[in-house]
Amino acid sequence: MHTTKAVKKIAIIGAGNVGKVLGYALKQKGYVPVAATARTAASRKTAAALLQCPVYSEPEKAAQQADIVFLTTPDRVIKEVCDALALKGVFHRGQVVLHTSGAHSSEILSTAREAGANVFSFHPLQTFPGVEAGLRALPGTFFAVEGEQEAFWVAEEMVAALGGKMLTIPTEMKPLYHAAACVACNYLSTLMDVALKMYQVMGIGSEQAFESLAPLIYGTLKNIGEMGPEKALTGPVARGDLPTINSHLEIIGKLVPELLAAYKCMGIYTADLAYRKETLTEDQVKQLKNLLGG
Ligand SMILES: NC(=O)c1ccc[n+]([C@@H]2O[C@H](COP(=O)([O-])OP(=O)(O)OC[C@H]3O[C@@H](n4cnc5c(N)ncnc54)[C@H](OP(=O)(O)O)[C@@H]3O)[C@@H](O)[C@H]2O)c1
Repeated sequence: MHTTKAVKKIAIIGAGNVGKVLGYALKQKGYVPVAATARTAASRKTAAALLQCPVYSEPEKAAQQADIVFLTTPDRVIKEVCDALALKGVFHRGQVVLHTSGAHSSEILSTAREAGANVFSFHPLQTFPGVEAGLRALPGTFFAVEGEQEAFWVAEEMVAALGGKMLTIPTEMKPLYHAAACVACNYLSTLMDVALKMYQVMGIGSEQAFESLAPLIYGTLKNIGEMGPEKALTGPVARGDLPTINSHLEIIGKLVPELLAAYKCMGIYTADLAYRKETLTEDQVKQLKNLLGG
């Protein structure tokens, strides 16, 4: 299937944040948005100005004419929209149909595949709070691609045009890929919130607290990037300093008991990391885990 035929006509079904950003960025690189859709009039207006193509409210009006159909609706309706388009006979052989969800695999596009289209998921590992910020963030973004490998060349070309990098993952691993991204992104927010709550108990507001922690946080991230999490690990768990950890447990239990479970849980995983770093013996790990209730 890999030919250099001009697979350039794109349709954006759901021209919201991601649809507008990818549509506009691809247009700058020679792809031709032939049509797009959005539900609200305001969104249709901004999409039309940005993509310079007709923008409809009905997905079936946009999808038929395109070589590459982007289903960039909210996750919860991708399958519904895809199934409805397939039922209306919009998809055809030679077309590529994709969605940009991190949580779902290309399996939710099975009705498009049955209609002869090639399907894959095309997840930008990036955050798009709006069009301008999204366009700024795009260069260097990784795109996780999973689905029908024979159509991956279409993804490769788009990733190259977008100045990104491609990461291919097996279909059955898509939920694990998404879980990892959630841990790295969302749980990092939660972890910061746990630290800020401890500061709050000391009477230090979140702004000042974050300002004081920021050099430590960014320094640690830099070290992790340069040497990996094991070598970057320092602190009382890595040193096997049980009395210090005990003093943490006591004060957290007394002043912010709702954070005790999170502290203990992270400590248990950190003990394993310290064992891999070879600063703790098996016996020390056992003692630490006993103290932390693991
Ligand atoms: N935003 C991010 O940071 C990000 C990052 C990576 C991947 N993604 C993924 O990209 C996809 C789109 O996310 P987004 O943030 O761009 O969402 P969004 O800004 O809410 O845009 C969704 C688009 O779909 C339209 N829409 C909503 N409900 C619909 C329905 N029932 N039928 C047809 N169209 C409908 C919306 O119309 P209106 O414009 O009129 O509301 C809008 O154009 C999702 O799969 C998401 O998981 C998002």
